[in-house]
Amino acid sequence: MARNVYGLDLGSYEIKVYDKRQDSIWKEKTAIAILNDNEIFAVGDDAYAMYEKTPSNIQVVFPMKQGVISRFNNMQYLLQSLLKKDRRFARGAEYVIAVPTDVTEVEKKAFFDLVIHSTAKASEVNIVERGIADAVGLNLDVENTNGLFIANFGGETTELSVIAGGGIVMNRLLKTGGSDFDQEVAALVRYNHDLLIGRLTSEILRRKFGVFNNDNSSFLTVAGRDLITGVPQSRDISISLVRAAIREPLEECVHAIQTLLDRIPPEVRKAITHNGMFLTGGLANLPGLETYMEESLGLKVRTAVEPEFCAVTGLKQIIRSRNLKKLAYSMLDQNYRWIN
Ligand SMILES: Nc1ncnc2c1ncn2[C@@H]1O[C@H](COP(=O)(O)OP(=O)(O)OP(=O)(O)O)[C@@H](O)[C@H]1O
Ligand SMILES: [Mg+2]
Repeated sequence: MARNVYGLDLGSYEIKVYDKRQDSIWKEKTAIAILNDNEIFAVGDDAYAMYEKTPSNIQVVFPMKQGVISRFNNMQYLLQSLLKKDRRFARGAEYVIAVPTDVTEVEKKAFFDLVIHSTAKASEVNIVERGIADAVGLNLDVENTNGLFIANFGGETTELSVIAGGGIVMNRLLKTGGSDFDQEVAALVRYNHDLLIGRLTSEILRRKFGVFNNDNSSFLTVAGRDLITGVPQSRDISISLVRAAIREPLEECVHAIQTLLDRIPPEVRKAITHNGMFLTGGLANLPGLETYMEESLGLKVRTAVEPEFCAVTGLKQIIRSRNLKKLAYSMLDQNYRWIN
């Protein structure tokens, strides 16, 4: 049987995997629960569900931070145990990994090392810049375009990519994502209601209310800990509070996008004005984000279907198409500076 090929988009919030043999795409949370500092207790979605609910001897850790691998061994373990959930998992597979562009070579190489130096014994590892994977996932013509602009709104990062003539011409990785929005929500709830809420609760609030919604009167009842009495309490949190909280990180993103747009060479800029801007990444599901971006930037904006899967869908197409295969490259190539 031919060896399997996996496409990996390793996010700070979720790991997305394309499995060629089964022709399927799945995702799991990038989380791992550790018992007594040394024993793995749970991985992926199961570990995430335990966050903020575990006794003190179980710690839930997130092995990726702001788009890069921060706990290498945990990440390696997590990825392998998720892949091995499928009993047909075999060693010696080929891997194609989407990597951020605006990071150091050492950070980029860590994605490569994650599978090449592991018990999975990868037979071949290639990387694709995430902006390119997103463009392919959006069914855009990467080879022949004069200018594309993609913003990938993720859990802890926002990656801005400008593509022209078959490659990335400008790229910026902002260290702002969904979890920063959630922190702002938690901070404002604490300030206005003297109520301490966790990360998962603020995520629920943010996902429900989003950026724009005609309904200004709605609220959600959430549970937290009263800061004055110290006991668990339920409170109604209004939509306007959530919107006020996420305004600042949103404006930060818009400002960074505008700054990048202003620096794009005129020919490419013209094509981008014509093609509009594309939103990918899980946070692009946020109700109203597309309209907000359109109004703030004065550009036509389109959001990918299932935006969190856009990059991994691009990897799927790159893996399956002979024509697109050249968009992936090896870090072992002669012209790649790092490993010779
Ligand atoms: N339906 C939804 N509505 C609003 N937000 C959503 C929705 N689905 C996912 N998100 C948010 O999207 C974010 C995760 O997006 P994504 O999976 O693209 O991140 P990631 O790739 O893991 O992170 P990064 O690229 O920053 O390393 C989370 O903050 C999550 O709350
Ligand atoms: Mg991502």
